[in-house]
Amino acid sequence: MELYVDTANIGHIRHAASLGFISGVTTNPSLLAKEDPSVDVKQRILEIHELVGGHLSVEVISTDTKGMLNEAEEIISWFPQATIKIPMIPDGLAATKELSRQNIPTNVTLVFSTTQALAANNAGASYVSFFMGRLDDIASGSAQVLEEACEIWDIHGFESLIIAASIRHPAHVVDSALAGADIATVPYKVLMQCLKHPLTDAGLQAFLDDYNKMQAEKKKLNG
Ligand code: E4P
Repeated sequence: MELYVDTANIGHIRHAASLGFISGVTTNPSLLAKEDPSVDVKQRILEIHELVGGHLSVEVISTDTKGMLNEAEEIISWFPQATIKIPMIPDGLAATKELSRQNIPTNVTLVFSTTQALAANNAGASYVSFFMGRLDDIASGSAQVLEEACEIWDIHGFESLIIAASIRHPAHVVDSALAGADIATVPYKVLMQCLKHPLTDAGLQAFLDDYNKMQAEKKKLNG
């Protein structure tokens, strides 16, 4: 399962990308606004693209098909490898169909059910972003719905890729991998939590302490 970082924070993206295990970035209007409401969106997106080079999903804000297609055209003019993130609404499906006809990759976002996921796939989405955390917030078990979606994908051999999104904690990353999601897009803080283990820290400290003890002994022996 590939891992993307779900943020628009340049410092976080730079650090995550430097660690070598991230292959893409997803953004959305809320993530961009959280960083700096006055940010020039095009400039920020291009900065992110330069840093990571891999997958970058950029979300449209129009809610009608024509508006979404115009925005997609503009985003593609910034950098042709962009994946256009489209909301899971009827007009979004029509826009997805048209962009797929033009061979422009799309990421249908705000997907919460298997029927929505099926519609997005059939409209030609390249990626289907299934939101876990927000589903758990309303006491609907996200892992079970994601498992169902992945099973349906396997049964039918669908080619679109499932992104587990709205990840809130490392257990969501594990659930996504177990369900068979192709990708999990993970907030920076959760990515860092995934790397941490107290036994790693304690083990490293013990190795360093023992090495230093050995060096001190050697120094003593050599006078
Ligand atoms: C997906 O691409 C979205 O950007 C994101 O995962 C939303 O997550 P949230 O529910 O934490 O806002």
